[in-house]
Amino acid sequence: KKAQAWSARFSEPVSELVKRYTASVDFDKRLALHDIEGSLAHADMLNAVGILSDADLSAIGDGMARIRGEIERGEFTWSVDLEDVHLNIEKRLTELAGDAGKRLHTARSRNDQVATDIRLWLRATIDAVVAELESLQLALLEVAGRHADTIMPGFTHLQVAQPVTFGHHLLAYVEMFSRDAERMRDCRRRVNRLPLGAAALAGTSYPIDRERVARTLGFDGICANSLDAVSDRDFAIEFCAAAALVMMHVSRLSEELILWMSPRVGFIDLADRFCTGSSIMPQKKNPDVPELARGKTGRVNGHLVALLTLMKGQPLAYNKDNQEDKEPLFDTADTLLATLRIFADMAGGITVNAARMRQAAAEGFSTATDLADYLVRKGLPFRDAHEAVALAVRTAAQRGIDLSDLTLDELRAFSPLVEADVADSLTLEGSVQARNHPGGTAPAQVRAAVARHVQRLEGT
Ligand code: ARG
Repeated sequence: KKAQAWSARFSEPVSELVKRYTASVDFDKRLALHDIEGSLAHADMLNAVGILSDADLSAIGDGMARIRGEIERGEFTWSVDLEDVHLNIEKRLTELAGDAGKRLHTARSRNDQVATDIRLWLRATIDAVVAELESLQLALLEVAGRHADTIMPGFTHLQVAQPVTFGHHLLAYVEMFSRDAERMRDCRRRVNRLPLGAAALAGTSYPIDRERVARTLGFDGICANSLDAVSDRDFAIEFCAAAALVMMHVSRLSEELILWMSPRVGFIDLADRFCTGSSIMPQKKNPDVPELARGKTGRVNGHLVALLTLMKGQPLAYNKDNQEDKEPLFDTADTLLATLRIFADMAGGITVNAARMRQAAAEGFSTATDLADYLVRKGLPFRDAHEAVALAVRTAAQRGIDLSDLTLDELRAFSPLVEADVADSLTLEGSVQARNHPGGTAPAQVRAAVARHVQRLEGT
């Protein structure tokens, strides 16, 4: 009795080491339900074009239904001897359906089969990622809406630059995550093409109907070239690239959460259930979740590089190298989904210390630009206004006070254009309210942006 589906050509069985080295079933069994789905669509098509009898088709249908149940209940016995998910399922089908099971592989190769399975799996994965990205955006929007008026310092070079609202700051991340979702949807269009029919590489001599299979499986169309269909994994690389961008955004947000939560800054607090303690320092409440997310970003970047490198030296068409696509791809999806899920949950639990934020925004001459703009409105050219305010800042800094602590007369020493109405320009509220144009930090703009995004996401 031959051990492998292909072993008739060989004079000795494959060595144990090689068997273990080349087997993929331990990880590709994750594709099992998609493998069954693809096989059923293929069988339906073989029957429709007259290659497979009605009796064989129904035997295959019954066998696959049974196998699906066994897999779902965890009763299916996976065997390394049978190499991969495809041969494991085919073997069991043949036990259950006899010759009909052996006929299933007509006009098909594992090369187009595995490419189809991955695409089906990735399509579902992308839909899940998009849903999680939307939940995260909604969670951030909820907090942003509550903090449309909350003033914090905006930074450049990690130095206080100008006051912004906390809502506006969070909306920046909503923009990033909405572009990420867009990228995922765009990637899905290229994932959603049918490789089946390419067979090993050249196509098949049977009169197959690829469009029918594409329709059955919900693909938007077929892969147009058989060599390309079985050999390229650019769609998976593209997903990993889009995933790396999401993680990069998550990582930047993480960095800010960690910084804001540091007792030295004290802008926010995260709910206790997202933090951990120290086994030695009793006072600690550590932001482990954002730190771990920042760390996992490296791992997702690594998977992207792994896949690019996996692909770059391969001649057409299929090479066994491609079996190595799965673990990086699966781990990318697992890491991304778990991270997004926890962030959507955690974002809602951010509590804000508005007083601390306000106090920090009041330091560092954050309204200096507003004073310069004030002088410009009074007729001074911007460059001259910049210089006058720079001198005022220098004087205030030397005395250890803020611009708003200078008297009217002291301010007038830097420019005679200063009048009593300057006070409004020096307040934090005046500063943020003045930036009242689309994309600006004014509370009214923040509220409008929140409403627009919620409408986009919820369609209400
Ligand atoms: N397990 C293989 C993979 O993941 C399936 C295709 C195998 N084809 C082959 N000719 N060895 O890529």
